Amino acid sequence: MAKLHLITYGCQMNEYDSERVAGLLRERRWELTSDETEADLILVNTCAIREKAEDKVFSKLGELRLLKTQRPDLVIGVMGCMAQLHQSAIQRRAPAVDLVFGSPAIARVGELVDRVLRERQPVLETGEGPLVKITARPPAAGRLKAFVTVMEGCEKYCTFCVVPQTRGRERSHPPEVIVDEVQRLAAQGCREVTLLGQTVNAYGRDLTPPTDLGELFARVNDVEGLARIRFTTSNPYNLTPRLIRALRDVPKVCEYFHLPLQSGSNRVLERMNRGYTRERYLELVAEIRDAVPAMAFSTDLIVGFPGETEADFAQTLAMIEAVGYDNVFVFRYSRRPGTPAATMADQVAEDVKASRNTRLLEAATRVGAERSGRLTGRTMEVLVDGTSKKNAGELSGRTRCNRVVNFDGQGSASVGDLAQVHIDQVLPHSLRGTLASRPEEAACLSK
Ligand code: SAH
Ligand code: F3S
Repeated sequence: MAKLHLITYGCQMNEYDSERVAGLLRERRWELTSDETEADLILVNTCAIREKAEDKVFSKLGELRLLKTQRPDLVIGVMGCMAQLHQSAIQRRAPAVDLVFGSPAIARVGELVDRVLRERQPVLETGEGPLVKITARPPAAGRLKAFVTVMEGCEKYCTFCVVPQTRGRERSHPPEVIVDEVQRLAAQGCREVTLLGQTVNAYGRDLTPPTDLGELFARVNDVEGLARIRFTTSNPYNLTPRLIRALRDVPKVCEYFHLPLQSGSNRVLERMNRGYTRERYLELVAEIRDAVPAMAFSTDLIVGFPGETEADFAQTLAMIEAVGYDNVFVFRYSRRPGTPAATMADQVAEDVKASRNTRLLEAATRVGAERSGRLTGRTMEVLVDGTSKKNAGELSGRTRCNRVVNFDGQGSASVGDLAQVHIDQVLPHSLRGTLASRPEEAACLSK
């Protein structure tokens, strides 16, 4: 069998796509290897969200070029968002690349690779294609958690974001196809799925008949053996009362909500074309906490968006406290080709972005620690997913609100179980606890 090495950058959707590619190529007798020096084909799945992500890819392609001088038969492919965004410019800047293809062409990866091997000349495939749900996956016995893409694309056109260009229009996969995929995963021992979409809470409105994420939750909830449902990423603009009710009523949906805010200043939000105000965002958070008091929130924030003043920034800073986030991801604004914000006049200096980044993270760490402090003394459900990083004698897992918990399983809890754990101690990056009662057995694993 010929050998394939996959390198994945970027988001969970890319991880999912890489798995699909591995599954499809496996059907054509390509075997995965983790060692790039023994590969006959190396595929780099790329991310274009920020310039830094692209720099990483080009520097990796530079390394691979050296590898190719030693092994001229090696085929190098670039797929994903950078392929879609830069198309033929990739091969101009990195001439060792034999194949460039965008996400719509993933279903035809086998054919494209064959073409490169046959014709021995560069292949570029970045056209639009029909929406195909590819369910091929490499075998993954014992996989506890899996991502499942439920919709592709985004058409929100936030002025900073390249995704509408790289991932195309919003297209949902039919619910029965998704449920079928989750059923197959659960039958193999999977206990947690994360439903993925760039604007996952806009799911289903393009289908006939239309449906929504709440309804999809209910259907996925019925899958036997599955214990938890997560979902990402949501956009505040599409958040409906129906979804909030589903968060409350569908038992397997976890109390963790990633709700990107981007900025706390209405002026900046408007220039970003986000479609909501800080007041509306706070109202949504209040409604969600009202329905689900234990809900933990995380968010994405951008510092140094063009025109962001110190006063705008102060408003973002204040939102960390006002919402009480468990987790915050901060990004320095990065100019992306073809986006409206890239050509706005008042770009912010890098040192200002750096200082705002640091200040946001300080506030986020402090608020996150306050939030975890409240968990001491509570008994929480933990999905056991392995052993503790620091102490192999201890088990490790996550709460429904996505906190890492390490605890002594006392020989009666094992990987895949839902254990009730009493939280004794709160550390900066994890919780420590004691097993509170005999865990519910993972039915699908003990068969
Ligand atoms: N679909 C998601 C966003 C996906 S991109 C949503 O609705 O928000 C993930 C994160 O990257 C975004 O939330 C944003 O915070 C950040 N990001 C996107 N474009 C960026 C840019 N040009 N510069 C810096 N950060 C950016
Ligand atoms: Fe990007 Fe905004 Fe869509 S951040 S992915 S254009 S919701």
